[in-house]
Amino acid sequence: MTAEIEANGDAGVQQQKTEMEKPTESNENPSEPVLSKRAKKKLAKQQKYEEKKAEKKAAAKEQKKKEVERKRKEWEESIASIPEDEKMKLIESRISLRKERMEKRTQEKNDRKERLMKAKEQGQNVVVDLEFSHLMTPNEIRSLVQQIMYCYAVNGRCECPAHLWLTGCEGEMENQLNKIPGFDKWIIEKENKSYIEALEDRKDDLVYLTADSDTVLEELDLNKIYIIGGLVDRNRWKGITMEKAQEQGIQTAKLPIANFMKMSSSQVLTVNQVVEILLKFLETRDWKTSFFAVIPQRKRSQAGSEENANNTVEEEEECEHRDDLVASKKQCVEEEDCEQKDELIASKKQCVEETPSNC
Ligand SMILES: C[S@@+](CC[C@H](N)C(=O)[O-])C[C@H]1O[C@@H](n2cnc3c(N)ncnc32)[C@H](O)[C@@H]1O
Repeated sequence: MTAEIEANGDAGVQQQKTEMEKPTESNENPSEPVLSKRAKKKLAKQQKYEEKKAEKKAAAKEQKKKEVERKRKEWEESIASIPEDEKMKLIESRISLRKERMEKRTQEKNDRKERLMKAKEQGQNVVVDLEFSHLMTPNEIRSLVQQIMYCYAVNGRCECPAHLWLTGCEGEMENQLNKIPGFDKWIIEKENKSYIEALEDRKDDLVYLTADSDTVLEELDLNKIYIIGGLVDRNRWKGITMEKAQEQGIQTAKLPIANFMKMSSSQVLTVNQVVEILLKFLETRDWKTSFFAVIPQRKRSQAGSEENANNTVEEEEECEHRDDLVASKKQCVEEEDCEQKDELIASKKQCVEETPSNC
């Protein structure tokens, strides 16, 4: 069985024969799809992955439960031998501390909501084009979903957030996004339609950001709508967003990376890096600061670093620090909407404090 997959809804952008397999066995149950050996292997691998993930999740939950119980016991033991009046004072101060923490979190949540609502009215519109899910493996789709979660969390912490759009949100991509706790409450525009349909009357303002464009982005214009290709592809689909934009007759632009730093390989960045750069630029109006704050050290060439030796130590340190924090930030995103869970308070607080995104 061979399938041709179109790169997007428009005919002819890019077609690719996929490695859909030939069935190797006769199908005993005609209502079930015939799977080749390779597809079966892939499916089994996927199932194993899901099982392991569920096991890990259950173990982590159990571990947390134990930790909460251990702390509770520790606390009870520590106050057991204290006179009654002192004990009452200690308990009261603990309750009031907890209340303060809760109030602070509620305040932060309300502030974030207010900033995002303001961005919806008058902020910079940024679209993530999700029409490429058929070109990605399940792992790549999961990775993109993680990146989107991260973008939303970083945007929410910004003093000057953008208004995020997810367009072409359908099929597996939509399924995965819907699994994010609290996704339905996100302050974004979620569209099943493609951006070209959803923003039909703004076609002249659409600018597809792509590393393959000849146009260098100088500024961010509030009247424009910047589109980022929702792809995790290790640039397997080289040029796909450029071709798509050209076919649709919309403007394109690349980030002015080359004006400020040399990269060790290509200038193709991940979705979350591009979103973060845009957010940092909205705050600072300075590309150099934005690139150095977001692009990891390992992606910059040594020559580039030497040439830019006049960059402040703080810039470099912030970036390295940032690299180290990627893992913990990823965790933060996952925890972003689980605020009701007491045991997550500490790590979430740490996440907010540790994130060096100053915007
Ligand atoms: C992982 S890249 C996808 C690369 C893909 N092969 C393509 O042709 O766009 C994710 C998206 O980030 C944006 N992007 C990445 N690097 C960029 C750059 N240097 N300038 C402008 N946009 C960039 C583009 O919108 C791109 O589609």
